[in-house]
Amino acid sequence: MKQIFAAILAIVFIVSLITVSFTYSQVENEEKRLESDIQYRSSLLAGSLKEAVEPNFINKSDIYLQDVVERFVDNQRIAGLAITDNKGTIVAVSSALPKKISEAEQVAVDVMDEGAANGSFVTVENMKMYVFASPLHDADKKSVVGSLIVVQNAGYIDTRLTDIWKDNLIRLSTQAALVSLAIFLVLRWIIFAPISNFMTSLKVNKKGVSYKNKGIINNPIFRPLFKEVADMQKNLIEARMAVTAHARVQLEKLDSPWTSERLTAFMGDVVKNRKIFVVSNREPYVHTKDGTKITYHTPASGMATAVEPIMQATGGTWIATGSGDADREVVDSNDRIAVPPNDPKYTLRRVWLTEEEEKGFYLGFSNEGLWPLCHMTHVRPIFRKENWEEYKNVNEKFAKTVLQEIKKEKNPIVFIQDFHFSLLPRLIREKRKDVTIGMFWHIPWPNPEAFSICPWRKELIDGMLGADIIGFHTQLHCNNFITTVGRELESLIDLEEFAVTKSGHTTHIKPFPISIAFSKDKVEKEELVAEDEESKRVLKSLGINSKYLALGVDRLDYTKGILERLKAVEIFLTNHKEFIGDFTFLQLSAPSRTSIKEYQDFNQKVQQEVDRINNSFKKNGWKPVVFLNKHHGHDVIYPLYRAADVCLVTPLHDGMNLVAKEFVASRNDEKGVLILSHFTGASRELIDALIINPYNAEATSDAIYEAITMKVSEQKRRMRRMRDLVRDNNVFRWSAQFFKSLVELG
Ligand code: G6P
Repeated sequence: MKQIFAAILAIVFIVSLITVSFTYSQVENEEKRLESDIQYRSSLLAGSLKEAVEPNFINKSDIYLQDVVERFVDNQRIAGLAITDNKGTIVAVSSALPKKISEAEQVAVDVMDEGAANGSFVTVENMKMYVFASPLHDADKKSVVGSLIVVQNAGYIDTRLTDIWKDNLIRLSTQAALVSLAIFLVLRWIIFAPISNFMTSLKVNKKGVSYKNKGIINNPIFRPLFKEVADMQKNLIEARMAVTAHARVQLEKLDSPWTSERLTAFMGDVVKNRKIFVVSNREPYVHTKDGTKITYHTPASGMATAVEPIMQATGGTWIATGSGDADREVVDSNDRIAVPPNDPKYTLRRVWLTEEEEKGFYLGFSNEGLWPLCHMTHVRPIFRKENWEEYKNVNEKFAKTVLQEIKKEKNPIVFIQDFHFSLLPRLIREKRKDVTIGMFWHIPWPNPEAFSICPWRKELIDGMLGADIIGFHTQLHCNNFITTVGRELESLIDLEEFAVTKSGHTTHIKPFPISIAFSKDKVEKEELVAEDEESKRVLKSLGINSKYLALGVDRLDYTKGILERLKAVEIFLTNHKEFIGDFTFLQLSAPSRTSIKEYQDFNQKVQQEVDRINNSFKKNGWKPVVFLNKHHGHDVIYPLYRAADVCLVTPLHDGMNLVAKEFVASRNDEKGVLILSHFTGASRELIDALIINPYNAEATSDAIYEAITMKVSEQKRRMRRMRDLVRDNNVFRWSAQFFKSLVELG
């Protein structure tokens, strides 16, 4: 709309400019015409009068002269006549003229001096007049004896000119209004409406749905453009169909390579028209306020990193807790928003928690209870009755939301994420028997003894057993879970099928090692150079210019082994003094769960350790550890992965750890060494990393030395194998395996 008004304004401005300049020239011409007309008439009158006046003037018959001037003033345009003697003094004047008109006398004097008739415009008593004077001669026409003055009313000239301006301006306004209306209609109906239709058709076609709009196709103005774009679209659709066909051929085998497109096609075949609903606590996009602007970011969460590309490929609805301070401002009246915000592919449905709920459900039961319970890091789990009540309450709240979202769906698939929602599978199953429920536990499952300290363990396991499949990252976690069930609940356990049957419902327990998208693979040489440049730029912006860079990327969480990593760096520099000044360990830590005391204490301990180590080694402006305690986006992390000589992934316990896989995926130069904790799920797959026990700081320090001094050929050999593995087992394949099992077993 704004553009339409701008176009109208511009055109009206140009039309006005043209009209005003035309009017100006018309007025000038008319003025000239009227002036020469008045001059002509005056000289004609003066000429005819002169013949009557000259003989009598010589005879000095004043009475006769007075009679002549009165007689001739019969025309309303003639204001009056006057006769002067040769000095310019008036001897006869018509009564309508003022007796003393000095302007006229001056004109008379001038013409007598020049000996030829002339005229000029003057203003008398606020009226415009034309004074024309002609010299009178004696009988032998030799000497000037006086002058004859004709005074005409010239006011009508200005009136006429003003009328022209008025007429033209009225015409201009009418024209402007009509032109504006016409432009509005032309732009709105002939240009904007077809373009907007065209956009809709492009958007619909992008989703693979055919959309034919005759109006667009037949529009004569846009037909050539539409034809071009239609051809391009056709090619794209054909390419998509080829990918789908290829995917179908490979469907049964589930072999690599897996891509987002292949997953989309696969889901169409396996899941058919059943809608997918993902549930998690952490949302994939967080909207925040930045002054008056609203921005968004993706959170530091392995779960979100893995599930987001799947949702982009499959579409559907993701139900999660709203956590950003601008989250409420961007959702619609049903608390929904289409995401990714810059290229929507699926719906995010936000659920709002009260402060009490967040405290009890998220901070309390989930993060102070279940998180340390499942991670063997020697942090005591805290179980409070009031937190358990909130955990139940929020699980019920989410169950209500899910039931509301799936109300109109037949046989929907609900995919529940993580330890926040142990009770949700059962709560949904009780209300809807036709739902297929998958659950994925993104963190480790401890041994039955460790799990038995949870006061509400039976309720938690029973809740989970409402699912058709429960997935873990490793077989060990599956084993731990099934033995825990055996210990805690009366049920039928089938160890061959790895399934539990309770109250007539069977749940399968299976390992699905999660992964990442691995979207960027082979790149051109120029791109590699550009990426190297970007890495250098980011390092420079952080003030790091050491020869060797070791990198750690984690949430600031006590399970990640950051203190142990720092200790290993200290031992490395103590044992290998030759690297002092040439080596930097950069730790990026996204603040996490900061209202929990354990996390606050941990933050403090890390900061103290960083300061202690820096103080004992720093020299000439160099320090060994750079600790950046803030959230970093992928745009910063990716170049740093590529700049690192070594990436330290040393958790004390971790379900999978996707940082390890992201580092490997980023190394399209096949360089860099991964040091990986034996207690991560990733260490089962990435056996070409230098696998360490994070509790053994000396061994980790040796691994740092080995990594830094490793030959490039050896780095490449290891990195190539790890890259092949992550590429083949990417998150699209993970997802295909999970959903295939879910649909077959559910
Ligand atoms: C782990 C969990 C995720 C969680 C993430 C971040 O990876 O498995 O479910 O989202 O930590 O923790 P946060 O509490 O910030 O969601």
